Amino acid sequence: MKLRMEGVEFSYGSDPILQNICLELHPSEVLGILGPNGSGKTTMLKCINGILTPKQGSIALDAEEVRSMPRQDVAKNISYVPQNSQNIASPNVFEVVLMGRRPHIKWEFGERDKEIAWKAMEDMGVKMFASVEFSKLSSGQAQRVLIARAIAQETRILLLDEPTSNLDIKHQIDVMNTIHRTVHDMKIGACAIVHDLDLAMRFCDRIILLSEGRIVAAGPTRTVLTPANIKNVYGVDSVIDESYRRPRVLIL
Ligand SMILES: Nc1ncnc2c1ncn2[C@@H]1O[C@H](COP(=O)(O)OP(=O)(O)OP(=O)(O)O)[C@@H](O)[C@H]1O
Ligand SMILES: [Mg+2]
Repeated sequence: MKLRMEGVEFSYGSDPILQNICLELHPSEVLGILGPNGSGKTTMLKCINGILTPKQGSIALDAEEVRSMPRQDVAKNISYVPQNSQNIASPNVFEVVLMGRRPHIKWEFGERDKEIAWKAMEDMGVKMFASVEFSKLSSGQAQRVLIARAIAQETRILLLDEPTSNLDIKHQIDVMNTIHRTVHDMKIGACAIVHDLDLAMRFCDRIILLSEGRIVAAGPTRTVLTPANIKNVYGVDSVIDESYRRPRVLIL
Protein backbone atom coordinates (compact mmCIF):
# COMPACT_ATOMS: atom_id res chain seq x y z
CA MET A 1 0.00 0.00 0.00
CA LYS A 2 1.36 3.38 -1.02
CA LEU A 3 0.58 6.69 0.65
CA ARG A 4 0.72 9.72 -1.57
CA MET A 5 0.34 13.41 -0.74
CA GLU A 6 0.09 15.89 -3.56
CA GLY A 7 -0.07 19.67 -3.35
CA VAL A 8 -1.39 19.62 0.22
CA GLU A 9 -2.15 23.01 1.76
CA PHE A 10 -3.40 23.46 5.30
CA SER A 11 -4.12 26.38 7.63
CA TYR A 12 -5.76 26.57 11.07
CA GLY A 13 -6.79 30.20 10.50
CA SER A 14 -5.67 32.65 7.86
CA ASP A 15 -1.91 31.89 8.02
CA PRO A 16 -0.75 28.99 5.85
CA ILE A 17 0.76 26.16 7.94
CA LEU A 18 1.47 23.55 5.23
CA GLN A 19 2.26 24.63 1.69
CA ASN A 20 2.49 22.43 -1.37
CA ILE A 21 3.37 19.22 0.50
CA CYS A 22 4.11 16.35 -1.87
CA LEU A 23 5.43 13.00 -0.70
CA GLU A 24 5.19 9.26 -1.20
CA LEU A 25 5.56 6.61 1.47
CA HIS A 26 6.31 3.13 0.19
CA PRO A 27 6.08 -0.28 1.88
CA SER A 28 9.21 -1.33 3.80
CA GLU A 29 10.48 2.14 4.53
CA VAL A 30 10.85 4.42 7.50
CA LEU A 31 10.34 8.00 6.34
CA GLY A 32 11.71 10.54 8.79
CA ILE A 33 9.88 13.87 9.08
CA LEU A 34 12.31 16.43 10.42
CA GLY A 35 12.16 20.16 11.01
CA PRO A 36 12.22 22.80 13.75
CA ASN A 37 9.46 23.33 16.32
CA GLY A 38 6.37 24.76 14.68
CA SER A 39 7.39 23.78 11.14
CA GLY A 40 4.19 21.74 10.65
CA LYS A 41 5.25 18.13 11.30
CA THR A 42 2.41 17.18 13.66
CA THR A 43 -0.10 19.02 11.47
CA MET A 44 1.12 16.95 8.52
CA LEU A 45 0.57 13.61 10.33
CA LYS A 46 -2.89 14.75 11.45
CA CYS A 47 -3.77 15.55 7.83
CA ILE A 48 -2.56 12.10 6.73
CA ASN A 49 -4.80 10.21 9.12
CA GLY A 50 -7.80 12.44 8.53
CA ILE A 51 -7.94 14.22 11.93
CA LEU A 52 -7.45 17.46 9.98
CA THR A 53 -8.71 18.16 6.47
CA PRO A 54 -6.41 20.01 4.07
CA LYS A 55 -7.68 23.09 2.29
CA GLN A 56 -6.28 21.80 -0.98
CA GLY A 57 -4.50 18.82 -2.46
CA SER A 58 -4.81 15.09 -2.29
CA ILE A 59 -3.89 12.46 0.33
CA ALA A 60 -4.47 8.97 -1.01
CA LEU A 61 -3.87 5.38 0.04
CA ASP A 62 -3.21 3.60 -3.23
CA ALA A 63 -5.88 5.33 -5.33
CA GLU A 64 -8.38 6.09 -2.55
CA GLU A 65 -8.66 9.52 -0.94
CA VAL A 66 -8.32 9.24 2.86
CA ARG A 67 -10.98 11.95 3.39
CA SER A 68 -13.61 9.84 1.61
CA MET A 69 -12.81 6.61 3.48
CA PRO A 70 -15.03 5.56 6.42
CA ARG A 71 -13.24 6.12 9.79
CA GLN A 72 -13.05 2.39 10.46
CA ASP A 73 -11.30 1.78 7.13
CA VAL A 74 -8.84 4.57 7.90
CA ALA A 75 -8.13 2.92 11.27
CA LYS A 76 -7.60 -0.46 9.61
CA ASN A 77 -4.95 1.07 7.39
CA ILE A 78 -3.34 3.87 9.38
CA SER A 79 -2.26 3.83 13.02
CA TYR A 80 -1.15 6.96 14.83
CA VAL A 81 0.90 7.49 17.95
CA PRO A 82 0.36 11.11 19.02
CA GLN A 83 3.04 13.45 20.33
CA ASN A 84 1.45 13.83 23.76
CA SER A 85 0.23 10.68 25.45
CA GLN A 86 -3.49 11.01 26.00
CA ASN A 87 -5.47 10.36 29.14
CA ILE A 88 -6.85 6.95 28.48
CA ALA A 89 -9.62 5.77 30.72
CA SER A 90 -8.80 2.09 30.63
CA PRO A 91 -8.24 -0.20 33.60
CA ASN A 92 -4.89 -1.59 32.53
CA VAL A 93 -2.13 -1.60 29.95
CA PHE A 94 -3.22 -4.87 28.34
CA GLU A 95 -6.63 -3.38 27.58
CA VAL A 96 -5.06 -0.24 26.13
CA VAL A 97 -2.96 -2.33 23.74
CA LEU A 98 -5.94 -4.57 22.92
CA MET A 99 -7.83 -1.42 21.84
CA GLY A 100 -5.53 -1.43 18.82
CA ARG A 101 -7.55 -4.42 17.59
CA ARG A 102 -10.87 -2.56 17.69
CA PRO A 103 -10.98 -1.55 13.98
CA HIS A 104 -10.67 -5.24 13.07
CA ILE A 105 -13.44 -6.70 15.22
CA LYS A 106 -17.22 -6.74 14.98
CA TRP A 107 -18.31 -7.43 18.57
CA GLU A 108 -15.77 -8.96 20.92
CA PHE A 109 -12.03 -9.46 20.99
CA GLY A 110 -11.02 -13.03 20.11
CA GLU A 111 -8.06 -15.17 21.19
CA ARG A 112 -6.08 -14.07 18.14
CA ASP A 113 -6.57 -10.38 19.04
CA LYS A 114 -5.24 -11.12 22.53
CA GLU A 115 -2.23 -12.99 21.12
CA ILE A 116 -1.43 -10.04 18.83
CA ALA A 117 -1.68 -7.63 21.76
CA TRP A 118 0.67 -9.78 23.90
CA LYS A 119 3.17 -10.01 21.04
CA ALA A 120 3.12 -6.21 20.54
CA MET A 121 3.67 -5.71 24.29
CA GLU A 122 6.58 -8.12 24.13
CA ASP A 123 8.08 -6.26 21.15
CA MET A 124 7.88 -2.96 23.05
CA GLY A 125 9.13 -4.41 26.34
CA VAL A 126 5.95 -3.53 28.25
CA LYS A 127 4.59 -7.00 29.00
CA MET A 128 5.45 -6.61 32.66
CA PHE A 129 3.06 -3.65 32.89
CA ALA A 130 0.09 -5.64 31.51
CA SER A 131 -2.01 -5.32 34.64
CA VAL A 132 -0.84 -1.84 35.64
CA GLU A 133 -3.21 1.11 35.33
CA PHE A 134 -2.19 3.18 32.26
CA SER A 135 -2.35 6.46 34.19
CA LYS A 136 0.24 5.16 36.67
CA LEU A 137 2.96 4.65 34.06
CA SER A 138 5.90 7.00 33.58
CA SER A 139 5.88 9.05 30.33
CA GLY A 140 8.39 6.73 28.66
CA GLN A 141 6.53 3.58 29.70
CA ALA A 142 3.25 5.11 28.45
CA GLN A 143 4.90 6.04 25.15
CA ARG A 144 6.03 2.42 24.60
CA VAL A 145 2.52 1.16 25.43
CA LEU A 146 0.99 3.47 22.79
CA ILE A 147 3.50 2.26 20.19
CA ALA A 148 2.57 -1.33 21.15
CA ARG A 149 -1.09 -0.42 20.60
CA ALA A 150 -0.26 0.95 17.13
CA ILE A 151 1.71 -2.21 16.26
CA ALA A 152 -1.21 -4.38 17.46
CA GLN A 153 -3.46 -2.43 15.06
CA GLU A 154 -1.55 -4.16 12.21
CA THR A 155 -1.97 -1.33 9.74
CA ARG A 156 -0.12 -0.81 6.45
CA ILE A 157 0.89 2.71 7.52
CA LEU A 158 2.31 3.66 10.90
CA LEU A 159 2.45 7.34 11.90
CA LEU A 160 4.70 8.13 14.86
CA ASP A 161 4.93 11.62 16.33
CA GLU A 162 8.26 11.79 18.19
CA PRO A 163 8.14 8.13 19.26
CA THR A 164 11.30 8.37 21.34
CA SER A 165 10.88 11.81 22.95
CA ASN A 166 10.36 10.45 26.48
CA LEU A 167 12.67 7.46 26.28
CA ASP A 168 16.03 6.78 27.89
CA ILE A 169 18.92 6.13 25.54
CA LYS A 170 18.61 2.32 25.57
CA HIS A 171 14.86 2.40 24.93
CA GLN A 172 15.35 4.95 22.12
CA ILE A 173 17.55 2.43 20.32
CA ASP A 174 15.35 -0.58 21.21
CA VAL A 175 12.14 1.15 20.08
CA MET A 176 13.64 2.44 16.82
CA ASN A 177 15.12 -1.01 16.14
CA THR A 178 11.71 -2.64 16.69
CA ILE A 179 9.99 -0.08 14.45
CA HIS A 180 12.60 -0.58 11.74
CA ARG A 181 12.35 -4.38 11.99
CA THR A 182 8.52 -4.36 11.99
CA VAL A 183 8.45 -2.07 8.94
CA HIS A 184 10.79 -4.32 6.97
CA ASP A 185 9.39 -7.69 8.16
CA MET A 186 5.75 -6.72 7.62
CA LYS A 187 6.46 -4.60 4.52
CA ILE A 188 4.57 -1.62 5.91
CA GLY A 189 5.47 2.07 5.71
CA ALA A 190 6.23 4.29 8.71
CA CYS A 191 6.36 8.08 8.96
CA ALA A 192 8.27 9.07 12.07
CA ILE A 193 8.81 12.60 13.34
CA VAL A 194 12.30 12.69 14.82
CA HIS A 195 14.23 15.53 16.45
CA ASP A 196 17.48 13.66 17.12
CA LEU A 197 19.39 13.98 13.85
CA ASP A 198 21.76 11.10 14.62
CA LEU A 199 18.85 8.79 15.47
CA ALA A 200 17.30 9.81 12.14
CA MET A 201 20.59 9.10 10.35
CA ARG A 202 20.67 5.64 11.90
CA PHE A 203 17.08 4.48 11.45
CA CYS A 204 15.38 6.41 8.63
CA ASP A 205 15.53 5.17 5.04
CA ARG A 206 14.45 8.50 3.62
CA ILE A 207 13.93 11.96 5.08
CA ILE A 208 11.70 14.94 4.48
CA LEU A 209 12.97 18.18 5.91
CA LEU A 210 10.31 20.78 6.69
CA SER A 211 10.79 24.45 7.37
CA GLU A 212 7.91 26.88 7.90
CA GLY A 213 5.42 24.48 6.37
CA ARG A 214 7.38 23.73 3.21
CA ILE A 215 9.53 20.79 2.19
CA VAL A 216 13.05 22.15 1.78
CA ALA A 217 14.82 18.83 1.16
CA ALA A 218 13.69 15.24 0.55
CA GLY A 219 15.41 12.03 -0.40
CA PRO A 220 17.63 9.23 0.91
CA THR A 221 18.81 9.99 4.46
CA ARG A 222 22.46 10.54 3.53
CA THR A 223 21.61 13.07 0.85
CA VAL A 224 19.29 15.11 3.11
CA LEU A 225 21.26 15.10 6.36
CA THR A 226 24.13 17.26 5.17
CA PRO A 227 25.82 20.05 7.14
CA ALA A 228 24.47 22.55 4.58
CA ASN A 229 20.84 21.44 5.01
CA ILE A 230 21.19 21.24 8.79
CA LYS A 231 22.62 24.76 8.90
CA ASN A 232 19.92 26.05 6.57
CA VAL A 233 17.00 24.61 8.54
CA TYR A 234 18.20 24.56 12.17
CA GLY A 235 20.91 27.23 12.03
CA VAL A 236 23.50 25.01 13.73
CA ASP A 237 26.91 23.78 12.57
CA SER A 238 27.50 20.06 12.23
CA VAL A 239 29.78 17.46 10.69
CA ILE A 240 29.06 13.98 9.40
CA ASP A 241 31.61 11.71 11.08
CA GLU A 242 32.57 8.86 8.74
CA SER A 243 35.24 7.34 11.00
CA TYR A 244 32.86 4.89 12.67
CA ARG A 245 31.11 1.90 11.03
CA ARG A 246 28.07 4.10 10.24
CA PRO A 247 27.89 7.82 9.48
CA ARG A 248 27.12 9.91 12.54
CA VAL A 249 25.75 13.44 12.81
CA LEU A 250 27.76 15.49 15.27
CA ILE A 251 26.41 18.89 16.23
CA LEU A 252 29.27 21.31 16.87
N1 LIG B 1 -4.84 23.69 16.99
C1 LIG B 1 -4.12 24.71 16.49
N2 LIG B 1 -4.67 25.91 16.25
C2 LIG B 1 -3.96 26.94 15.72
N3 LIG B 1 -2.66 26.85 15.38
C3 LIG B 1 -2.04 25.67 15.58
C4 LIG B 1 -2.73 24.54 16.16
N4 LIG B 1 -1.87 23.50 16.24
C5 LIG B 1 -0.70 23.96 15.77
N5 LIG B 1 -0.80 25.25 15.36
C6 LIG B 1 0.28 26.06 14.76
O1 LIG B 1 0.70 25.42 13.56
C7 LIG B 1 2.12 25.47 13.42
C8 LIG B 1 2.66 24.06 13.23
O2 LIG B 1 2.42 23.32 14.41
P1 LIG B 1 2.82 21.79 14.52
O3 LIG B 1 2.30 21.29 15.82
O4 LIG B 1 2.40 21.08 13.29
O5 LIG B 1 4.41 21.91 14.57
P2 LIG B 1 5.53 20.79 14.77
O6 LIG B 1 6.44 20.86 13.60
O7 LIG B 1 4.90 19.49 15.08
O8 LIG B 1 6.32 21.36 16.05
P3 LIG B 1 6.98 20.61 17.31
O9 LIG B 1 8.37 20.18 16.87
O10 LIG B 1 7.06 21.68 18.34
O11 LIG B 1 6.11 19.48 17.73
C9 LIG B 1 2.64 26.19 14.66
O12 LIG B 1 2.89 27.53 14.31
C10 LIG B 1 1.49 26.11 15.64
O13 LIG B 1 1.47 27.24 16.48
MG1 LIG C 1 4.83 18.28 16.73
